[in-house]
Amino acid sequence: MPHARRPAPLHEHGDFSDRRDLDVTAPPTLVPAQAQSSVMAHPDRSLWCLSTPATCMILGADEAGALTQRYWGPALPATDMAQFGDVDRLRWTSTFQSPGEIEEQLPFDGGHRWGVPSLQVVFDGGVRALELAFAGADTVEYEDGHGLLVRLVDEGFGFGAALHYRVRHGTDVIERWVELRNGHSKDVRVLRADSGSWLMPDQDEYRISSVHGHWSGETQLERRTLPTGEYTLTSRHGTTGQQSNPWVMVDDGTATEEFGTVRTVALAWSGSWRLTAQRRPDGAASVTAGFGHDGLEWSLHPGDALTTPSSLGLHSEGGFGAASRSWHDYVRRHVLTHPQEDRPVLFNSWEATEFDISLEGQIALARKAADLGVELFVVDDGWFGSRTHDAAGLGDWFPNPDRFPEGLHPLVDTVRTLGMGFGIWVEPEMVNPDSDLYRANPDWVLHWPGRRRDELRNQLVLNFGRTDVRQWALRSLDDLAGAYSLDFLKWDMNRPFTQAGWPDRADNHDMVWIEHTRGVYSVMDELRRRHPGLRIEACSSGGGRVDLAIMSRTDQVWTSDNTDSLDRQTIQHGYSQLYPAVTMGAWVTEEVNALTGRRVPLDYRFHVAMAGALGIGGDLDLWSADELDRSREHIARYKAIRSTVQHGDLYRLGQAPGRDYSALEYVADRQVVLLSYDPHRSLSRAPRRLRLRGLDPAARYRDTETGTEYSGAVLMGRGLLFNEHQTLRGWNNTRFSAADYASSLLVLERLAG
Ligand code: GLA
Repeated sequence: MPHARRPAPLHEHGDFSDRRDLDVTAPPTLVPAQAQSSVMAHPDRSLWCLSTPATCMILGADEAGALTQRYWGPALPATDMAQFGDVDRLRWTSTFQSPGEIEEQLPFDGGHRWGVPSLQVVFDGGVRALELAFAGADTVEYEDGHGLLVRLVDEGFGFGAALHYRVRHGTDVIERWVELRNGHSKDVRVLRADSGSWLMPDQDEYRISSVHGHWSGETQLERRTLPTGEYTLTSRHGTTGQQSNPWVMVDDGTATEEFGTVRTVALAWSGSWRLTAQRRPDGAASVTAGFGHDGLEWSLHPGDALTTPSSLGLHSEGGFGAASRSWHDYVRRHVLTHPQEDRPVLFNSWEATEFDISLEGQIALARKAADLGVELFVVDDGWFGSRTHDAAGLGDWFPNPDRFPEGLHPLVDTVRTLGMGFGIWVEPEMVNPDSDLYRANPDWVLHWPGRRRDELRNQLVLNFGRTDVRQWALRSLDDLAGAYSLDFLKWDMNRPFTQAGWPDRADNHDMVWIEHTRGVYSVMDELRRRHPGLRIEACSSGGGRVDLAIMSRTDQVWTSDNTDSLDRQTIQHGYSQLYPAVTMGAWVTEEVNALTGRRVPLDYRFHVAMAGALGIGGDLDLWSADELDRSREHIARYKAIRSTVQHGDLYRLGQAPGRDYSALEYVADRQVVLLSYDPHRSLSRAPRRLRLRGLDPAARYRDTETGTEYSGAVLMGRGLLFNEHQTLRGWNNTRFSAADYASSLLVLERLAG
């Protein structure tokens, strides 16, 4: 096989407790960075083995030209590869039934296939029946791993699909994407172009886990039996969306947080998408995922290529907890561009002032924030154009001349003098019709001639597929970043697409669903290139654009507009299934939550927000001296543990977060952080011990507050009593406290030797 050397492509390749028994041995930890991955080709058979440190996937091309998945599971000796030479004919139950299409890497619309097509095209004359067949494969070297490129070709129409695979060192995640190429003299219409299909190897039962939600109620974890048929998660919003997030985990119904085989698939894409899990009546199951939603159509002109985003798969043997830790590790190691940096404690003005922004008011908040130990001051909406309410100003990215007659400089200078970084909120993809930008460029928005332009929150979507719009956005943001040496941008995107037409591209108008997203990526990428110190927070009405692709060009996300601590616990629990704490923006806001009206004590609010990248979002002018003092202490404590929270391994302990007693344990080399929560204490519930995880049983750990020492074996085998932590925190010393919202922070230091 020839070898080709190529640079590692970006993510979006368009440019890209229930424990069963007492087990006090250290659980499997994450794969060391140096653990190698490899791709091997069988010398004389059409077989390839993609090996990650703990797993492997074996692919084979059969005599009919189909590329199928032969194995995906725990690592095997390379010599075992030869045993996968035959297609598993068991699935060919009769001559009347669908053969092994579900095992194919890119099941397409053509031939003996009746399942969900990962690829569906229409050739000249309305011809649909694709005849893709294996045409060769190359192994590929990447800077940080190895790859495989398999070529499938439809000779009749000169149409090619290149299936790319990449395994990187130190991770069990397998990356895949597809490049389609039209070698015909006529256009090809593409109705579906997934990044690939993943066969879920035979199981007695299939259960699927995913997260769903809505504005202010994102990432609610659901687990359900995968029904026979097709189960589709999708976004038609033009963004990743809040309704579903583009990933699933599949197990056989018996996996727990700590035990069991879990296979998981995610899509790295920030526009519309579709992920379909299918379970056939004969018991086979697969997951296919790709960009775009059903009903879109893209034309490939002669010679054109279309590259899909990456679909990523992970096989894990340690239950949902280990699967999450592997994802977190992958995101930190291979997705984020500044993974090693501690995220600063930020203050954001939104809940404090909303649109009621003034220079004096912001300076007053900045002084109070700095006094608390805040490191980054972010002015949210309302600082620009005529944006004194949500019906005007979006698109006019210059400081409001009435509110900031000397520009933002007086505010920026004060913030910097106070020792904080400075950031602003922007929503570059949006325009209010009442704006200078829209009056000058009414054609820049998504629209169809002769159709209404429906507004949401009084705004329309700028078409980032257009070169002039991208250039304008880059110029506007570049000017701001340069003028104020911005440290931080909160990049918002507050409404989904409607009437998503692109009149200038009548030949291929649905490309807007891809090109808008690529435009956002390209502006972000270039902005970051020009301003290497700039950090970006992705926001879309809260957590509406959370995915692996946006994370490869931002530093954190705004998880949800809902800052109610109880609601946040379930949101953050779902978020943590795939995404690491370092990316999870979490603010402490008012005692009586502005959205829900729930009153939650300050300590509990801090302990929930400390589980991610801590921020403060309350109106500090209204906080009492006592609240400010305690906040200062909490922020100082957070700074002492944030490296562990943000970069350590997360173990989720206890029961349903936000409803029952639960805890989050973060483990780093020398420190262990335990955040425990009991929102509704009950006299009828006996205090319980929490068994810690992920420790070295032979090591000793010291409680940094009391000095008490424990062995790792005791901490994992017997555990710690929750009430003890409360006592340590100086709370009521009784075993049965009737108080709601009990919470604690326990820090253990691992002793040398
Ligand atoms: C969205 C964001 C909020 C805030 C407002 C400003 O709702 O999610 O955090 O920035 O916009 O208008």
